[in-house]
Amino acid sequence: MIRVNTSDAMKLAGLTPDLGAARAALAELKAKTGRGNDFLGWISLHDDIKADLPRIKACAERIREDADVYVVIGVGGSYLGARAAMEFIQSPTRNLTEKGPAVFFSGYTLSGNELEQILKFSEGKKLYLNVISKSGTTLEPALSFRCLKEAVERSCGKEEAKKRIVCTTGIGSGVLYGLAQKEGYECFAVPEDVGGRFSVLSAVGLLPLAVAGLDIDALLAGCAAQAEENLKDSDDNTALQYAAARQALYDSGKKVEMLSCSRESHRFFGEWWKQLIGESQGKEHTGIFPNSMVLTADLHSLGQYMQDGERMMFETFLRVGEDSPLRLKEAEGNIDGLNYLAGMSFAEVFACAAEGTKAAHEAGGVPCMEIFADASDEEELGRLIYFFELACGVSGYMQGVNPFDQPAVNEYKNRMFELLKQRKGL
Ligand code: PA5
Repeated sequence: MIRVNTSDAMKLAGLTPDLGAARAALAELKAKTGRGNDFLGWISLHDDIKADLPRIKACAERIREDADVYVVIGVGGSYLGARAAMEFIQSPTRNLTEKGPAVFFSGYTLSGNELEQILKFSEGKKLYLNVISKSGTTLEPALSFRCLKEAVERSCGKEEAKKRIVCTTGIGSGVLYGLAQKEGYECFAVPEDVGGRFSVLSAVGLLPLAVAGLDIDALLAGCAAQAEENLKDSDDNTALQYAAARQALYDSGKKVEMLSCSRESHRFFGEWWKQLIGESQGKEHTGIFPNSMVLTADLHSLGQYMQDGERMMFETFLRVGEDSPLRLKEAEGNIDGLNYLAGMSFAEVFACAAEGTKAAHEAGGVPCMEIFADASDEEELGRLIYFFELACGVSGYMQGVNPFDQPAVNEYKNRMFELLKQRKGL
């Protein structure tokens, strides 16, 4: 169950959120009459994907049973959702504790050193690849795929490699789709009407998550339940409340939103959220700049700025319930003087840290919102994903931009390809 608290922030900033405008933006989304309306497949993706689930699950099972190492190759929307969800539910160190193949991500940087580490780790092991690219032409995953594909083929021969490589791509004429057809790789679709950053509930995210051992049915069920709530034309709609509050804050001069997550496992959820907001709202020289941090780790790095730096930001605390039974015990001698905490769980200690942080930042003039999720499980994560996707779409329309394209991303690509060709004398 997702709950939001926007009232403290509105009170501190002396603002009234325009829920009417948020409701109008939602109506536009639902009627598919706004900008970018050919990229709204994500609204009902949790239902539409059901037809593909048996094949996704069968492929995941095959990989889980046979692979030692499974590498997801993709960048941006083609990897962030899967990585965020995997770490959110399991942890960044899941490979040390979970059953099934070790899962690595590749093709999201251009670092040969990082690729080499995966290649080294995979030596002598059964390596499976899932290359994910909607366009099929993105340089980072394409280069990584070249090297890893060669390693798979070298280790088991070209014929067997065909079973160990799976493609997730736009169905049609793209390069990756063509290669999958030619080589006979199993192939999954990135729906045409779903942009990368909204694609985690397609095969882009679901296949890696099923391979990792997540309950993808529960993820989709959480998403469906949240859709029912967040598609309601009502002032009680939590996604509309959040979108309206952040737009009011932006209009009042608060240009940066800090998403403060509550544990290391949620750090990549912050990365996924940053892409969602950054690529959707950073348009026409306007838009909230998204940043994220993890409490309390980053209070020891960004805390000073949050408390006392430029007052151009607001903060959104993502509070997720924790169920660890770990409790503090008395220590002999009480040398650190902390015996008074004996009997408390880490969750209880963290709750005080989180509440204290909010109070301190508010005292420093930072409007603070809160988003509460009951647990770090698949259903609650599905709810969070839908909540933020919908709030992002509504926010984009309230801002007056097309939240579903990313034309400016091509700028760096064009220059990079120009330089690469120059270097090769072309
Ligand atoms: O959200 C987006 O559309 C982008 O971030 C893409 O996911 C990213 O650029 C990767 O593109 P592709 O999947 O075509 O390789």
